[in-house]
Amino acid sequence: MSRKNLALPFTRKQIEAVECTLPTPFHIYDEAGIRANARRLKAAFAWNPGFKEYFAVKACPNPFLLKILKAEGFGADCSSLPELLLAERVGITGEEIMFTSNDTPADEFVAAHKLGAILNLDDLTHLPFLEQAAGLPKLLCFRYNPGLLKGGNAIIGHPEEAKYGFTREQLFDGYRQAKAKGVKRFGLHTMVASNELNPQYFIDTAELLFDLVAEISRTVGIAFEFVNLGGGIGIPYKPEQEAVDLERVGAGIRKAYEARLKGLPPLRLCLECGRMVTGPYGYLVTRVRHIKHTYKCYAGLDACMANLMRPALYGSYHHITVLGKETRPAAVKYDVTGSLCENNDKFAIDRLLPELAPGDLLVIHDTGAHGHAMGFQYNGKLRSAELLLREDGAIVPIRRAETPEDYFATLDFTGLKKFKA
Ligand SMILES: Cc1ncc(COP(=O)(O)O)c(C=O)c1O
Repeated sequence: MSRKNLALPFTRKQIEAVECTLPTPFHIYDEAGIRANARRLKAAFAWNPGFKEYFAVKACPNPFLLKILKAEGFGADCSSLPELLLAERVGITGEEIMFTSNDTPADEFVAAHKLGAILNLDDLTHLPFLEQAAGLPKLLCFRYNPGLLKGGNAIIGHPEEAKYGFTREQLFDGYRQAKAKGVKRFGLHTMVASNELNPQYFIDTAELLFDLVAEISRTVGIAFEFVNLGGGIGIPYKPEQEAVDLERVGAGIRKAYEARLKGLPPLRLCLECGRMVTGPYGYLVTRVRHIKHTYKCYAGLDACMANLMRPALYGSYHHITVLGKETRPAAVKYDVTGSLCENNDKFAIDRLLPELAPGDLLVIHDTGAHGHAMGFQYNGKLRSAELLLREDGAIVPIRRAETPEDYFATLDFTGLKKFKA
């Protein structure tokens, strides 16, 4: 596979033109890149009739992007009521929605059931809970946590330490109970990795699930309709990293399918990837506000961790391009910081970049998933706009930036007048 692609889909001129009406910071997404990537993913699993990717809405909950992905044949993986409502507003309904939630409140089960979503339960106790709250649907899926049977992953940790899913024994019990209660259609799900770059990891996970499908089908006497392999396919954030070879993953899973599921009814495969679908096709565009020299050199940006939290949260690497200085030597070491009163608010630490000056335009790469979506308003920092670079080269707004009115929207100042302190 090729190394990370550092080429940008837009020019400095295009960004400067946008800035006349929409000041930095903003996220911009590349429609052509997203569509080509979606087609690559589908092609890798074209051997499996009924294959479906349910895009993990949490990664980039923007209706315009969801509409593009729907047009590419994707469904939506939702994990909360607002995400369900968002999917519905885009026209993604019924079994086009996978509801993979945890610690789920009754009203969310009711809403998902009403929408006809596929319910993916996180725990054995959710079976009677769901039955009481909403009644049981004809189709149910359970999330498996393989515990010690599966090695860990840097972000999600070791499965046996993770809060998600049923144990192996609970799965058998769960399918037995569901069958006895009249459930007729079944799915099996797991998600044990996040940002995993090793293709073999996904093949091994599929093998684990296929063996389990065969065993449960035999011992419980049910037929599975689908296996959902979850999300977690990584992207190359660092220049030296390589993208996951999707063709290899698809072919490896096909081999496992053909070897392990002989004699069983056809099984359709599902994924609920977020990061690998939109992650590499989003960019946070920001300007340098101040350059500060103390014990280190700091480049203070007009963006902050409210716009992109991953570096502060996980110490994640995001590549930075300085527009107009691409060919200059990366000769100065900077901490690239935001404006939050929080020392973790850094996009990069000790990063070698061309010498920076206030006003320089920076592009922070790979912000298309778990970027804007993770934003928050701590420190009164507001979330930025989102733009879309369309396939014809036009740049259109797909979310406005927040204003102070949004910050105050949940407060009742008339109540404050009457409130006695
Ligand atoms: C249940 C579930 N599915 C899918 C995803 C998407 O993961 P990724 O964006 O790494 O593919 C997540 C991420 O947190 C998740 O919790």
